[in-house]
Amino acid sequence: MNLVMIGTGYVGLTTGVGFATLGHQVVCVDIDAAKIARLDLGEVPFYEPGLQEALTHVQEKGRILFTTDLKSVIGGAEVIMIAVGTPPKSTGEADLTALFAVADQIGSLLDHEVVIAVKSTVPVGTNRKVIAHIREAMEKAQRAELTSLINIVSVPEFLREGSAFEDFLQPDRLVIGSDDKLAGQTVERLHKEMMAPRVMTTLESAELIKYAANAFLATKISFINEIANLADRVGADVRHVAEGIGHDHRIGPHFLKAGVGYGGSCFPKDVSALEQISGANGYSFKLLSAVIEVNNRQREMFFKRMMEKLGGVKGRRVAVWGLAFKAHTDDIRESAGIEIAQRLLAAGADLVVYDPQAMDNAKAVLSHHVEFAVTAMDAATGADVLVVLTEWPEFREVSFSTLHDRMIEPTIFDGRNHLADLNLQSQGFVYHGVGLGTYDAA
Ligand code: UGA
Repeated sequence: MNLVMIGTGYVGLTTGVGFATLGHQVVCVDIDAAKIARLDLGEVPFYEPGLQEALTHVQEKGRILFTTDLKSVIGGAEVIMIAVGTPPKSTGEADLTALFAVADQIGSLLDHEVVIAVKSTVPVGTNRKVIAHIREAMEKAQRAELTSLINIVSVPEFLREGSAFEDFLQPDRLVIGSDDKLAGQTVERLHKEMMAPRVMTTLESAELIKYAANAFLATKISFINEIANLADRVGADVRHVAEGIGHDHRIGPHFLKAGVGYGGSCFPKDVSALEQISGANGYSFKLLSAVIEVNNRQREMFFKRMMEKLGGVKGRRVAVWGLAFKAHTDDIRESAGIEIAQRLLAAGADLVVYDPQAMDNAKAVLSHHVEFAVTAMDAATGADVLVVLTEWPEFREVSFSTLHDRMIEPTIFDGRNHLADLNLQSQGFVYHGVGLGTYDAA
């Protein structure tokens, strides 16, 4: 099928490359000319495992093209998929400016039957507004008679950064929401190679499914973080508690890793947006407010306890391992690593940081007073304290005896329990995790 994908962020690009991999003919459109130029040269502008190889492959096969000019490619589209950003406003509400601008542009150009598929995460009711924008722009362009040929489908994404391409090819489910059966079936045909269960539903339900999925996962994380805080006080180990409850099929083992809380471009934004949607509809979603509060408190508590244990960090050399919001990405949006680095700096620490992928992004937001190390070991050399904030596999692979010798004080605060099973205490480290029941004893 012929697909036009609008927006080449991590969702749009991964999905576009994914559909090309499945054999469709894809044109990706973006207003960012510099990004399109890089993509045209075959360069993925962010770090996402597997995507570069997949892009090279589909470019060689001639199945994907990149352009800033929607007008020149819209004529051939059977499906136009929209995956532009919907960042949060200061109120928590999603900013739909880019989405509606795209809808207006599509409407002003359309002169044939097409299915519009919305991938962007949008508040309930937005798909109807998008199609209204498109039809209105068509009317203005003297094409009112064609508006009934244009239908909209909500097809939310469930990709995780760091494994987005794999998630695209092997989804847990497909959610397809539309008022128009044929339009829904057209979008389903795009996915025909995929074995996943289909949930064929309405626009509103599809929109709500996306928020409910992220909110539920965020709830699991806040729940296990509350258990972690309790575990610290009663001498239990949250990792064992998570394992013990996770074997129950009704609970499941995933998203039960305690730590400094969730970050990234999705959970904080989507949980706040859902709270906002609830409020706007006259409903106080109490559980959600608690999930957000627990997540904010989690970072706060980690930092506060670190300060208490250390008696402050003024003038002390502190190394931070991990700036990306999670491993296998260079994304630092709402990252605990960045926030805690900033707080350490404000508390007077002499700060040195390291991340395998996120250094360039971090340099753009961290003060010039921060030192950027070339390796994890370099960062920790001469440090009084090491703080681990992203679960990169390479952090487990350093020589801990060398690390011990290179640090002034071999003290580790691990906000992800990433090194918790390495028994670092027996190697002479003072080790603090989250919810290991040993915090106050250490
Ligand atoms: C999340 C969802 O998992 C995807 O399904 C969804 O498509 C995506 O948001 C989105 O809406 O676009 P992502 O933000 O890439 O994906 O990352 P996750 O793997 O979900 O992790 C989110 C945060 O939760 C990270 O900061 C991670 O460290 C944290 N986390 C995750 C925990 O603290 N504990 C866990 O057990 C799992």
